[in-house]
Amino acid sequence: MTTFDDQPHRLAGGGAKGAGAAEYVPAVLDLPHLRAAARKCRGCGLYRQATQTVFGAGPSNAAVVMVGEQPGDQEDQQGQPFVGPAGNLLDRAFAEVGIDRDSVYLTNAVKHFKFVERGKRRIHKQPGRTEIVACSAWLAAELEVVGPNLVVCLGAIAAKAILGTDFKVSERRGELVTLPAYRAIATMHPSSVLRAPDFESAYADFVDDLRAVHDAM
Ligand code: URA
Ligand code: SF4
Repeated sequence: MTTFDDQPHRLAGGGAKGAGAAEYVPAVLDLPHLRAAARKCRGCGLYRQATQTVFGAGPSNAAVVMVGEQPGDQEDQQGQPFVGPAGNLLDRAFAEVGIDRDSVYLTNAVKHFKFVERGKRRIHKQPGRTEIVACSAWLAAELEVVGPNLVVCLGAIAAKAILGTDFKVSERRGELVTLPAYRAIATMHPSSVLRAPDFESAYADFVDDLRAVHDAM
């Protein structure tokens, strides 16, 4: 049996026991136990405002783990990662390059939605360093259980969590990086593709990066 204390996945962002989410990570490492325990996480303040924990989803033996930033408005309401506009764009790009979404484990660096209220709308707010580090124990545990060959970082927040705070997605996107436990590759976040002034060109670059992911799978 693998326990959290054995796990070799020391993430760039932290993940050490005794801080943030780490004290909520159960001794038995499998996805059902992790998912259940994460529902009760109080490792940082984000649980207060959000509807629910949005844990990762996908097969426990997936060869590829994709890491986003944090759940958005739709994900917060439905309790599943990448089911809103960013997820729809991801699905479109997957179809184009031939990646089967059901074969991928999809998760986020931070498991609760952070937002500010503007009238009736909830506007996404980027998680801070403290929240990313606090939440990294969940991501480390997911990586330990799934044991992927390849980790895809969707955007800067995921890239910093997996590849270190100095990693610059703009300079190194699409590059296959070999880490001790898996290979990793970073690309833009699908939400920033959606917001790009030139959507068609940003989307074409995104699809190119996902093609590199497909080739590395
Ligand atoms: N953006 C993310 O990073 N993750 C989601 O699950 C949805 C939107
Ligand atoms: Fe726990 Fe992460 Fe939610 Fe913070 S964001 S309460 S660390 S699950």
